[in-house]
Amino acid sequence: MTYGPWPEGPVLVVDFGAQYAQLIARRVREAHVYSEIVNHTDTASQLLARKPAGIIFSGGPKSVNETPAPTIDPAIYASGVPILGICYGAQLLTQQLGGEVARTGRGEYGRTNLTISGSSPIFTDWPGESEVWMSHGDAITTVPEGFVATASCPDAPVAALHDPDRAIFGVQFHPEVVHTTKGRELLERFLYDICGAPPSWTHSSIIESQVQAVRNQVGSSPVLCALSGGVDSAVAAALVHKAIGDQLTCVYVDTGLMRANESEQVEDTFRRQFHIDLVHVKAADRFFSALAGVTDPEAKRKIIGELFIRIFEEVARDLVAEKGTGTEGDGNFAGDGVENGDGEPAGYLVQGTLYPDVIESGSATAATIKSHHNVGGLPDDLAFDLVEPLRLLFKDEVRAVGEELGLPHEIVWRQPFPGPGLAVRIVGEVTPERAEILRNADAIVVEEIRNAGLYRELWQSFAVLPAVRTVGVMGDGRTYAYPVVIRAVTSDDAMTADWARLPYDLLEKMSSRIINEVEGVNRVALDITSKPPGTIEWE
Ligand code: XMP
Repeated sequence: MTYGPWPEGPVLVVDFGAQYAQLIARRVREAHVYSEIVNHTDTASQLLARKPAGIIFSGGPKSVNETPAPTIDPAIYASGVPILGICYGAQLLTQQLGGEVARTGRGEYGRTNLTISGSSPIFTDWPGESEVWMSHGDAITTVPEGFVATASCPDAPVAALHDPDRAIFGVQFHPEVVHTTKGRELLERFLYDICGAPPSWTHSSIIESQVQAVRNQVGSSPVLCALSGGVDSAVAAALVHKAIGDQLTCVYVDTGLMRANESEQVEDTFRRQFHIDLVHVKAADRFFSALAGVTDPEAKRKIIGELFIRIFEEVARDLVAEKGTGTEGDGNFAGDGVENGDGEPAGYLVQGTLYPDVIESGSATAATIKSHHNVGGLPDDLAFDLVEPLRLLFKDEVRAVGEELGLPHEIVWRQPFPGPGLAVRIVGEVTPERAEILRNADAIVVEEIRNAGLYRELWQSFAVLPAVRTVGVMGDGRTYAYPVVIRAVTSDDAMTADWARLPYDLLEKMSSRIINEVEGVNRVALDITSKPPGTIEWE
């Protein structure tokens, strides 16, 4: 099931490559207009079937003069739907409509000055001269018939163009980046004045519409949600709880590999604050037994993943016994492969899938459980139907919705944490003692990063426990104990990452606190490896 659909037609952002489209889609949503990313290979009738309020063509890494270069079904130009082409998108519409795009040999990259040379409704709020962000090698040299050029830059004679009759606009620069000082105003004029899109995409209206969608989907059936302590599952649970209250049961499996205070916080928030029916499974002993003597990183991950699923399955079966199977014809908790009368999967499971996962999976309707997810790889006989109330949302929107739902800041702004937990930060054997050492050291790293006001700036910051011991001296005695490694990275998406340049004073404070406060540690090191070649986690 696709959540929404949003009541107003979306503004479609056509992706011409390299994820330029995501930033545009987010900017449109920041203007409170619902946007969706679509593929340039969609036909005009597929695009129009979504009843778009407007269409934005993104930039892209190719040149329109290359073959092959991504293109779009030209029937879209006769549809009457307003179009805004950005960079590559502007060049593409120019070329497809009969204008010319030349390789001038004089590309422009970075900030430049834009001079408005003609009147255009998207420049209403702009002064005559303004700073814009450019990134192009080709340049529009001749505008298509019916178009007028409305702005220029030193190396782009046609930096903006439009066809007043067909409401088709093109800009060579990037209004979506912050360096284009009036970029936001341009997008707002296009969205509000040209497309007539209402600014209705607000956090409270998102919640309202998704609450309704959850109710419509699950009826009176019971629903299960695995909480990990992370932001996505927390927001998804809070949203589903708002929709169906007691029909929701959350399951939190304490693997013994969680961060300091994580379990208490989940209890506090979900049981005490939200009064959600929470099954807290204390399974540390089972995880440590299963991990005893195991040192291979992949083997550890596999053991943890499989045990997690087994425990989740046990809880689901117990709940079926306890709570029954919902009302007739509805989904239920049945975990034994039972299907309801329609041949539909039985049982509902909340999944914190986000919009970027949906885009990556290549289809707005794909609903598969990602294998690396905390609840990954559920067995086939646990035939759950997925409830995915966040599948329209970007991460920043999930956080905003979480705040609006009253979740604590600490959960809403928590840095990502891997499904296998501290185990991927304990090199070598995972024992309760070693997990405790790492948890204590990690708590100090995080506390000091927070005190320094850096927590939100960093993608992740944590401690790692290597499998070696080194010699030290404390007081009058020789020590032989573990080092702890501080790992802190900046990143946008975890695909690449840079090691964070933490202030020396902060490092010193972390180092002395860890050695003084965490028994079993006598040395602190700093990981200064970026990704690639390193990964963020050590295992
Ligand atoms: P690496 O270590 O591959 O990690 O650079 C990239 C990002 O993914 C997180 N990560 C995981 N998340 N289950 C998860 O849910 C996992 O098994 C897992 N392994 C790594 C990691 O914390 C980082 O944000």
